[in-house]
Amino acid sequence: MKRITTIDELRRARAELNGTVAFVPTMGFLHAGHLTLMRRGLELCDHLVVSVFVNPTQFGPGEDLDNYPRDLKGDVEKCRSVGCEIFFCPRRDHVYTDHHSTTVIVDELDRSLCGPSRPGHFEGVATIVAKLFNIVTPDVAVFGQKDYQQLAIIRRMTRDLNFDIRIEGVPIIREDDGLAMSSRNRYLDDDQRRQALCLSRGLVAAHRAYTDDPSRTVRALLETARRPIEAAPGAHIDYLECVHPQTLMPLDADRPVSDDGALMATAVSIGPARLIDNLRLHEPLPDGPLRSLP
Ligand code: PAF
Repeated sequence: MKRITTIDELRRARAELNGTVAFVPTMGFLHAGHLTLMRRGLELCDHLVVSVFVNPTQFGPGEDLDNYPRDLKGDVEKCRSVGCEIFFCPRRDHVYTDHHSTTVIVDELDRSLCGPSRPGHFEGVATIVAKLFNIVTPDVAVFGQKDYQQLAIIRRMTRDLNFDIRIEGVPIIREDDGLAMSSRNRYLDDDQRRQALCLSRGLVAAHRAYTDDPSRTVRALLETARRPIEAAPGAHIDYLECVHPQTLMPLDADRPVSDDGALMATAVSIGPARLIDNLRLHEPLPDGPLRSLP
């Protein structure tokens, strides 16, 4: 595996790869969820490129940019173990040179969910992903569905800016007890880690309520999800929304979910960590730990 830090070197190494290339952009501190994205990339393509770059432009004031967990040595080992060929960890001042003044804005899809509480976040994400796409020029790029809104925005950007890249979304990877994997889980102490299960409990409760009676209103489903989350003493809901799975616009609270289905998504702060999770109510519960939640 080549470990590369400059854009020129990356372009040269990329040009030497014969066959198709999968790309997994990350901010490092890799966990089993990232490794699943990488394996999916290697199922779809001949080669795998992984980037590790903690992108400053997607963090707002007061967010965790300076404390974002890092483990470059561990990341290198993990990437090597799955068969990654190019590990790209560029320097911040190489990626954002002086007077960097171009930003990618994907309108509409950032108006709900994380958009209002993290102004500028998705501009930062779209900008860095567009830059990395231009640098790496992959055939396929793989993203996790935990960041559902991010995935929707990247799909839209890829289409609108005519990147010739297939965007592959991978279902959420969960710990054995149902908590969605995230680099930010490491901020939680033991008690907070237990409380963090309230996100999956809330979403699963809403899923069960919907499956049991699809004529329930969106408001009733949101109330069902809210109860287990509010029962966790340290949990503060940033948002809990039921949105259209494609447009991400909030559904009418007084009506049942329409045939288009519904994505229920939440962001909850527990101690120092802001955790997100989501579930599609109109699809069967995914195999795995959510099915055995009490
Ligand atoms: O999902 C992430 O880790 C980041 O938002 C991404 C896509 C690597 C952009 O910095």
